[in-house]
Amino acid sequence: KKSFRIVVLPGDGIGPEVIAEAVRVLEVISATSPDIELKLESHLFGGCAIDETGQPLPDSTLQACKEADAILMGSVGGPKWDVNSKVRPEQGLLGLRKALGLYANIRPANFASDALLAYSPLKTHVAQGVDIIVIRELIGGAYFGERKELGVAPKEDTAYDTMIYSVAEVQRITRVAAQIALSANPPLPVHSIDKANVLASSRLWRKVVIETLQTEYPQLKLDHMLVDSASMVMVASPRKLNGVIVTENLFGDILSDEVSVIPGSLGLLPSASLAGAPSVADALSPNFKPTPGLYEPIHGSAPDIAGQGIANPIGTILSAAMLLRYSLGLDRYAQAIENAVRKVLDDKSQGGFELRTADLGGKVKTTEIGDKIVEVLKGLL
Ligand code: NAD
Ligand code: IPM
Ligand code: MN
Repeated sequence: KKSFRIVVLPGDGIGPEVIAEAVRVLEVISATSPDIELKLESHLFGGCAIDETGQPLPDSTLQACKEADAILMGSVGGPKWDVNSKVRPEQGLLGLRKALGLYANIRPANFASDALLAYSPLKTHVAQGVDIIVIRELIGGAYFGERKELGVAPKEDTAYDTMIYSVAEVQRITRVAAQIALSANPPLPVHSIDKANVLASSRLWRKVVIETLQTEYPQLKLDHMLVDSASMVMVASPRKLNGVIVTENLFGDILSDEVSVIPGSLGLLPSASLAGAPSVADALSPNFKPTPGLYEPIHGSAPDIAGQGIANPIGTILSAAMLLRYSLGLDRYAQAIENAVRKVLDDKSQGGFELRTADLGGKVKTTEIGDKIVEVLKGLL
């Protein structure tokens, strides 16, 4: 049996609740597969790690992540850990992304099942047919540029952050966007989003995106939008953004939360953070090499509903599917998970769409959604 090592970082708030269901899904696959074994191990990360060790990303956790074939994460942070304190859970996440060189964050908002359209905050005719993949640059820009609070603590009177990009950083994320665009048939259009009318880093961004696509991927359609108007288009006529959006770190953070609710709920959407373009090579082919990656739902620790057992685990379960596809080369199992999720969301056997957590207007608990997905998945394997 081919064995893979998966590090699980449950984190804080609803993190452990949604991770538990994704772990069950992975365990079913491991137990059912004749040729694959998944070895899962949990590590401390985020606020809970600060409470135990004083650090959000303890050395032992980072070491385990570096040695793993892939990492599955819940979410970190919460009101218990003050944003003004020196050590914060979110620093662990940024540190992990940086340490592993995970510059490409892939956030697909294309899991639209028509059964969910009624829960979209947008009118059905606006939300229908939206199929957007956000490619967010993840280890550059204002998140990692120099920042400082000036003045004497606790009376800092000025603070700054630096949004900074190099040509090489823009080139590599552009190539990832291009390869994802090309993986569809016909290839997807690429929308690059920036603020080139104001920011120098955006002017460099736009120039490098144009040069890279023109010289390396001339067959792709490319347009440019300013981030303010793009965020308006995203709610007014989001189908205009169908295809691949490529954008810098902070704009991508904001736009991906915005796009996430179009298919129904923030709780549904997965993400992958990779150190290169995703490959879909088969794990059993002789030259398959796993690509380490970090997989997490795009939502946070949802302190307002944590501990109630009502969080939607689907974003995390779909993140586990992305993990199987992109890091472990197990596309057939990834598809089985996605099909099981779709079947559960589309289920009308009780006379209506009964299998819904509260974010989708239902009353079903996190574990009950997990039970149902596991049951349907077993039938598909
Ligand atoms: P959030 O994403 O945690 O929650 C926003 C809203 O969406 C809340 O009303 C929440 O109840 C709801 N929601 C989120 N996930 C849900 C799910 N799976 N099922 C049902 N409802 C869900 O954003 P926030 O409240 O701004 O942030 C809370 C904390 O999470 C902060 O400390 C923030 O830094 C952190 N955060 C962490 C990550 C991460 O770990 N990747 C991502 C975003 C935010
Ligand atoms: C996300 C989160 C993180 C980010 C925070 C928690 C650091 O919002 O993954 O989208 O801003 O990247
Ligand atoms: Mn975010």
